[in-house]
Amino acid sequence: MTTKAIPGQLVATTNPAELAREATARISRALVQAIAKNGAASFALSGGDTPRATYQLLARDAAVDWSKVEIFWIDERAVDPEHDRSNYRWAKVTLLDAAKVPAERVHRMRGEAKDLAAAARDYERILRERVPADADGIPAIDVAVMGIGDDAHTASLFPGEPTIDIIDRLVVEVPSHGSLEPRITVTTPTIEHIRNVFLLVEGANKRPALERIWATQGDVHVTPGRVFRGCRGAVTWIIDHEAGGEKQ
Ligand code: 6PG
Repeated sequence: MTTKAIPGQLVATTNPAELAREATARISRALVQAIAKNGAASFALSGGDTPRATYQLLARDAAVDWSKVEIFWIDERAVDPEHDRSNYRWAKVTLLDAAKVPAERVHRMRGEAKDLAAAARDYERILRERVPADADGIPAIDVAVMGIGDDAHTASLFPGEPTIDIIDRLVVEVPSHGSLEPRITVTTPTIEHIRNVFLLVEGANKRPALERIWATQGDVHVTPGRVFRGCRGAVTWIIDHEAGGEKQ
């Protein structure tokens, strides 16, 4: 009896450096294809440590015409854009400045806003205005980089929090979870309609979370990373050996 069913494609890599190279090649290809098809591409970024090496390589990737890429975020922490924990700040430092993405194409979530609910509503409006909707009427982001936490969270959808069940909004505010600051995050329907999700996961501490996400049985409320089981588009897991990629 099989107990594992990975939603999407698994790309096993040997180590974080190979993971970053593999992720860069695949993300670049997806952006180039979206630009060739539609004349522009929407690209949504996550925070966390893992994607930084990939963002740095992507910034030097000559295949992508960054003047045709609109940048969005999957989630943001409730801090100023210059703060060390700002997802915007890290994307700017590693990717946006070096790739010279035009400022008018960079759409950051306002983590510094006093009213995070209003900032989330504004962001949903921006997504609806800038990202063409699919047949379900939901903006379908072309390409997204996402990650998985040790506790199996993804975006800012945390275990045991009701956010995962929100289906009437595309972007919401998230109250503080444990010791973490409040956040803004995209919701389940937004994730489910992304055309190409690339999940970058490295390190032995992620292995138990991946096992729960990939198990045939499980509860998305306990293991939010199971949200990817509902994706309409392509889901690609780019994993290093320590996190459970088999390649040695
Ligand atoms: C965030 C993220 C979050 C992240 C995971 C993995 O802002 O914290 O968007 O969902 O992707 O926590 O983070 P690491 O790459 O640091 O393991």
